[in-house]
Amino acid sequence: MTTPLQLSTWARNISPSPTLAVDAKAKALIAAGEDVCGFAAGEPDFDTPDHIKAAAIKALHDGKTKYAPTPGIPPLREAIAAKYSEFYQLPTKAAQVIVSPGGKFSCYLTILATCSAGDEVIVPAPFWVSYPEMVKLAGATPVEVLATDATGFKLTPEMLKAAITPRSKLLILNSPSNPTGAVYTRDELAALTEIAVAHNLYIMSDEIYEHLLYDGVSHVSPASFSTEARERTIIVSGFAKTFAMTGWRLGTIVAPAPIAKAVGELQSQMTSNATTFAQWGALAAYTEKAKTQAALDEMLIAFDRRRKFLHTELNRIPGVNCLLSQGAFYLFPNISSFGLDDLTFCGKLLDEQKVAAVHGSAFGAQGFMRISYATSDEILAKGVERLAKFCAGL
Ligand SMILES: Cc1ncc(COP(=O)(O)O)c(C=O)c1O
Repeated sequence: MTTPLQLSTWARNISPSPTLAVDAKAKALIAAGEDVCGFAAGEPDFDTPDHIKAAAIKALHDGKTKYAPTPGIPPLREAIAAKYSEFYQLPTKAAQVIVSPGGKFSCYLTILATCSAGDEVIVPAPFWVSYPEMVKLAGATPVEVLATDATGFKLTPEMLKAAITPRSKLLILNSPSNPTGAVYTRDELAALTEIAVAHNLYIMSDEIYEHLLYDGVSHVSPASFSTEARERTIIVSGFAKTFAMTGWRLGTIVAPAPIAKAVGELQSQMTSNATTFAQWGALAAYTEKAKTQAALDEMLIAFDRRRKFLHTELNRIPGVNCLLSQGAFYLFPNISSFGLDDLTFCGKLLDEQKVAAVHGSAFGAQGFMRISYATSDEILAKGVERLAKFCAGL
């Protein structure tokens, strides 16, 4: 008698990305001819700036089609090191920079490089959907700490202290946040960093939305507070959100040299280098700074307009309560007053009104929904109108 084949515990226990699933469902409905307002995608509705595309095309013509050094092409690592040294005043050498195939993979490599089986990772909720799953894939245990709209979706020092145990190894921070758009102030971040340093934790600071900021707020990295903070902070970022390059699959890691070395070694066995000609394209984002800034400014003007519009319109709907967040391209309204769980709410909203948004519990926060405003003003207006109609009928 043969034993039935069984997939691994990793494969059986993984939850597929709910954000990608809702977005895929919305796209399938659109392809089938339905008039869907898609608020689920976590990507800019803008195209990659032309000068970046042109540089990648040139790289292809120039035969940059071979393997590159695993941690990234040297000029790109240099440019990224210069950005952190000059723009954020974080002295950074190219050896501390790893270019990976996407911010998502940067997060996974960071978790693999810092956590072992039995370690605990503090994951503030609402969280980006992939963090807990990646922690589990590394054999470690995610410890979710929920910060609702009552604290602006931000972890407080008291919450952090209460979550720390002798097994705590890593704290994940994500400012500006996906899914809430919340941005920590300098003081708030300094307080959390001080606690993490005092308890000897690593910090994975996911800064992928670092340039998508509104109301004049500035980006702050936990690495900037002290030498001790810098020695334990791994900064994850990427090209997808800032440069509208989601499909290029390019992420970055900036870490103290020994951690960067470990990350590079993991990457060398798991995937080798990020796509060579894509890296040459990305380099143009730094070498042609004026063009890059102009493209970013255009995106920011549109996102800011939509953010304010959406915030006003959502709060006009009786029963919906929404904070005005200052980063990324998401708002995270509270829909708990309707007495439906958020999965049912979003499911019915898609079925009945053809509006696709992701339920808050996918991000560890029941009673909320995530709306991405990285979509056209027209779709945004139509979608909010449908949402209002839907809520009125509940
Ligand atoms: C907070 C956060 N980190 C990382 C990523 C990964 O981005 P990439 O497309 O570069 O893998 C995303 C994408 O949605 C994100 O929202």
